[in-house]
Amino acid sequence: MIANDRRIRVALLGHGTVGAEVARLLDEQAGELAARVGAPLELAGIAVRRPDKHPDLPRHLVTADAAGLVDSDVDVVVELIGGIEPVRGWLLSALQKGKSVVTANKALLAEHSAELAEAADAAGADLYFEAAVAGAIPLLRPLRESLAGDRITRVMGIVNGTTNYILSAMDATGAGYAETLDEASRLGYAEADPTADVDGYDAASKAAILASLAFHTRVTAADVHREGIAGVSASDIVAAKVLGRTVKLLAICERVTDADGGESVSARVHPVMIPRGHQLAGVNGAFNAVYVEADAAGELMFYGQGAGGAPTASAVLGDLVAVARNRVLGGRGPRESAHAALPIRSMGQTPTRYHISLDVADRAGVLAQVAQVFAVHDVSIAAVRQRDRHSTASLVIVTHSAPDAALRATVDEISRLDVVHEVVSVMRVEGED
Ligand code: NDP
Ligand code: HSE
Repeated sequence: MIANDRRIRVALLGHGTVGAEVARLLDEQAGELAARVGAPLELAGIAVRRPDKHPDLPRHLVTADAAGLVDSDVDVVVELIGGIEPVRGWLLSALQKGKSVVTANKALLAEHSAELAEAADAAGADLYFEAAVAGAIPLLRPLRESLAGDRITRVMGIVNGTTNYILSAMDATGAGYAETLDEASRLGYAEADPTADVDGYDAASKAAILASLAFHTRVTAADVHREGIAGVSASDIVAAKVLGRTVKLLAICERVTDADGGESVSARVHPVMIPRGHQLAGVNGAFNAVYVEADAAGELMFYGQGAGGAPTASAVLGDLVAVARNRVLGGRGPRESAHAALPIRSMGQTPTRYHISLDVADRAGVLAQVAQVFAVHDVSIAAVRQRDRHSTASLVIVTHSAPDAALRATVDEISRLDVVHEVVSVMRVEGED
């Protein structure tokens, strides 16, 4: 039952893939949402870039003046435009005036969460962003609230639907890269500029958000080592298949403890080979899945639709209900904490494992020469497999864990050996210790 005539006035910025679904659900579920919040949610306006492209929207609601809408008499700003500027200024201004903000904008949060969180704290306003990572999957709230009493050691998973859609198709059908990307864009998974997906920027932003929450440390996108899938070739996919593995783009955030007990945070995004029996190997299409490891909880897995209008709108509406309830009850939700302020470990120092596939001369002493390079860089070999061709041999080497810089230096030196005709594929390996 609604106790008084209070209404929560909502400004919706953006009416694209996600914004249109939020507007639809706000309208269709108005009665239910009002009951859950304890007050009706009233759409005060919808800001778009080109109002004439939205003839079906009520004219009195549509505006191209997003700044004016944010400044008007609204309680909550829901931002579904994307990008950094001018959105950063609008949201900062809303928070400074005590308005709550709900956003799905990972690019903005991964760079400016500190100043946005400070503005929210100063004004006692809410800043919620569940939809920014892994679409529909409730992941940020469990990290921030449910696991607040535990010590998280690792967060690893598939957090970009577009690249997962492309890699799944390449693996299943050998489909071409460009045609699959077009399909992902058509389905509304890809960012406005799909290079943000393909080059790993989107996943790196999400890794920064995940690492910040998991390790109570401010991590920005610039702190995340980033490699996209543009370099993943058909040969890599075939090399993975031959070994019973598949290729995925993973975000891996770890709390690393040194020999002297000092802790640091490592955050990285890059393609990896994982065994086909690994649970992440079965995550296909635009689905996302994230493993969380914590001292007391052990292993947790979160799985669901990571992109698309309706799934993402579900997370946005969850946040909207939460911040609206807080306003009705007169409080604010839990803040994120960055109190641990752990140092960031560079990629070069981060321990990883490599799969290296080489075409080498097929004669005595070649294996010894190659093995010597590994020894020089103190990289231990876990497995070697050789297949003979005519005058060449195909050599597949999987290493034990070593600092990434040592592994890179090893590959670099091997590629310069006369006996090595071609470095066919180099990829990091996860999920098999
Ligand atoms: P779209 O490109 O589909 O929609 C963007 C909307 O913003 C459009 O309605 C556009 O107006 C409007 N817009 C752009 N610039 C301005 C401006 N200067 N002033 C007012 N309105 C403007 O984006 P998505 O819905 O896909 O994504 C929105 C946000 O959600 C992004 O931050 C994205 O990263 C995030 N996100 C997206 C997911 C997805 O699966 N698509 C999943 C999770 C998060 P017009 O329609 O007139 O062009
Ligand atoms: N472009 C993003 C993806 C949308 O493909 O995962 C969801 O954040």
